[in-house]
Amino acid sequence: MSLIEIDREKMPKHIAVIMDGNGRWAKKRGMRREFGHRAGRKAVKKIVESCAELKIKNLTLYAFSTENWNRPKLEIDFLMQLLFLSLKDELKNLNKNNIKFETIGNLDRLPKKIGDYLEKVKEETKENSALTLTLALSYGSRNELVEVVKEISTKVKNNIISAKKIDETVINDHLYTRHLPDVDLLIRTSGEKRISNFLLWQIAYSELYFTKKMWPDFRKKDLYKAIVSYQNRERRFGKTSEQVK
Ligand code: IPE
Ligand code: IPE
Ligand code: MG
Repeated sequence: MSLIEIDREKMPKHIAVIMDGNGRWAKKRGMRREFGHRAGRKAVKKIVESCAELKIKNLTLYAFSTENWNRPKLEIDFLMQLLFLSLKDELKNLNKNNIKFETIGNLDRLPKKIGDYLEKVKEETKENSALTLTLALSYGSRNELVEVVKEISTKVKNNIISAKKIDETVINDHLYTRHLPDVDLLIRTSGEKRISNFLLWQIAYSELYFTKKMWPDFRKKDLYKAIVSYQNRERRFGKTSEQVK
């Protein structure tokens, strides 16, 4: 799959990726899981670069789920350290490439040093406008929806909003993803065909793309393939084919 096959008129506005398969990739090579996570970082770099080249406006990457807190402490510590070092290394590049950095998820559970650094990166890239790169960290969609319900019910109780006025837009505006349009294309690597508590509300009408490639092997041409697949689908949003033609 090459760049030429991509239709520049039909680009997705928002791509989200479940970056899965780091551990299996490493195991297959007789290495520790951590080796796979480190290799996965390279794939992140390539895909961010590629989205910027393709002028895609929003890229959201699932990096650590609420359920991932149940992994062995050593692996969690490694992932946190890797995240910290990557952010430190990449801050300059984000600014150079006009990339705005955002996060979704419950950052309170992250080590303070990392939480603080994430805020710094967000602050220092907030004026950038080419691509919004959102990392889902300590993110779980059910947890997000629980938070939304709490926030809205507090507002109802304090007469800031009336219960009758709650609609889809109100819910959208309280999600972590309120800065983002709906996901057009959701990609999952590693051959698993599940959502794993990622963006349940936001993918209501996304096109889903599953590939057997493990995340550390995912490269630009794999992204092109996913985009071409997306572009060849008819998105009907409940209408008939005739209506959308
Ligand atoms: C994805 O790779 C990265 C994270 C979830 C942090 P995995 O670590 O889940 O790798 P597999 O799925 O075990 O191969
Ligand atoms: C999903 O991958 C979470 C991330 C990619 C960060 P997992 O490897 O945690 O998902 P399951 O447990 O196999 O569904
Ligand atoms: Mg996995």
